[in-house]
Amino acid sequence: METRKIRDTEYAIWIHGTGTPVLFVHGFPFDHTMYVPACERLSTRFQCLIPDLRGFGGSAPGGLNGHGSVEKPVFEMSEFADDLNELLNSLNIQDKIVLCGLSMGGYISMEFVRRYRSRLAGPILCDTRTTVDPPAAAENRHRLADSVAKTGLVPVAESMTPNLLAANTLENRPEITAFLKQMICRQKPEGVAAAARGMACRKDTTELLGQISVPTLVLCGEEDKPSPPDIMKEMAKQIPTAKFVTFNQSGHLPPLEQTAAFAQTVADFVGTI
Ligand code: MLT
Repeated sequence: METRKIRDTEYAIWIHGTGTPVLFVHGFPFDHTMYVPACERLSTRFQCLIPDLRGFGGSAPGGLNGHGSVEKPVFEMSEFADDLNELLNSLNIQDKIVLCGLSMGGYISMEFVRRYRSRLAGPILCDTRTTVDPPAAAENRHRLADSVAKTGLVPVAESMTPNLLAANTLENRPEITAFLKQMICRQKPEGVAAAARGMACRKDTTELLGQISVPTLVLCGEEDKPSPPDIMKEMAKQIPTAKFVTFNQSGHLPPLEQTAAFAQTVADFVGTI
């Protein structure tokens, strides 16, 4: 892992390979390790960049950037997008990038589309959505944010995991379930809380879909519950240049549940750009 001072914090980033730069943005409450198995394959052909977002994995939470309060900091999706733009600057990456964001990483990728689209050779939107939370879901995020410092991440991992993985993964692949729980459990409560508040107040990005004019890949696990295939298929239809691909026997996390198929699909896409 390398580290880079980005704005008011320090980012840890996994960088392997050479070729077209592909920036992978992890979901919530995860870190860069969710992409490592796929990127071990992809980095033989491309430059894979996987940061830990501020407050996750090895990246420090940093300051507030003027949002939220000292007691209740908020990491807005647009701030993460600004961090990623600065990260590319600090790595001196001038070529256009492929940006792959999963779930919260997809919310951030759409804010990147809003603000920095000239840097994009092609987005990959994976198991995500462009709409905002219904009020009850936003309330739940605030409850989680307020409680996680006291309760820690174990109850979060236990309650989220069954919702994130496909039936086959849960029944037959205990190593994936264990990996996922360990990844969630090692996250910092303050980062998780601030990102949860940021997701609760995220902006709708649906109107941006029709403005994407570069090749785009929309990916979804066939058993994804948080962002199901029917919703993602509708999203893909709104992007004139999109290809929609689903993965069998995968829930919300194709990079972990269907690593080989995910890596091959990404490689085929990036190879044509
Ligand atoms: C994620 O995987 O990033 C989460 O499911 C996003 C969310 O909670 O909306």
